[in-house]
Amino acid sequence: SWGDPVPLLLGLLAGLMSLPFQCILTGLWRNELGSKMRIQEVKGDGTFSGEYNTAVSLARRPIQSASLNGSQHFDEAGQPTFGFTVNWKSFSDSTTVFTGQCFVDENGKEILETMWLLREKAKAPHGWEATRVGTNVFTRIKRQNVDESVRSDGPQ
Ligand code: BTN
Repeated sequence: SWGDPVPLLLGLLAGLMSLPFQCILTGLWRNELGSKMRIQEVKGDGTFSGEYNTAVSLARRPIQSASLNGSQHFDEAGQPTFGFTVNWKSFSDSTTVFTGQCFVDENGKEILETMWLLREKAKAPHGWEATRVGTNVFTRIKRQNVDESVRSDGPQ
C-alpha cells in the first residue's frame, strides 16, 4: 500500500514552492539612483540589447537615452550572471561596463546586483582619474515603459 497520500502531497507542494523562480533579464528595471533600463528579448545564445536612461551624468551635454549590449548565462538555479556595455555616445565620450547577477528574494522579487566601471575620456594615457567604479542594484518596474517613466519623473 502507498499509505496516506497527504504527507506525500504536502512534501511535493513544499518542494515545488521552494523551487527558485527563474530570473528573467528581459523587461524594465530601475536602480537606486533612479536610472532606468529596458532589456529587450534575450536571444538563444544569451546575448541581449536594450536602452539605458541614466538619472545622473558627468557629461556637459544633456542626458539622452543610450544603447546597451550584453550577454547572460542560462543556469539551472535561475540566478544567472551577466554583463553589458553602455555606449554613451549620444551625449558623452564615456563607456560603462556592468557585470552582475540576477537573484530572487523570498518574496519572489527579482534584483540585479551589479558592479560597474566607467571610463571617462582622458587626455593622455595612465590617468589614474579616468576610471570610476561603483555598484548598482536594479529592481523591476512593472507595467510601465521607459519613456513614460522618464517623462513622469521630469518637470511637467
Ligand atoms: C557620463 O556621465 O559620461 C555618462 C553617464 C554615466 C552614468 C553612470 S554609469 C554608472 C552609474 N549608474 C547609473 O545608473 N548611472 C551612472
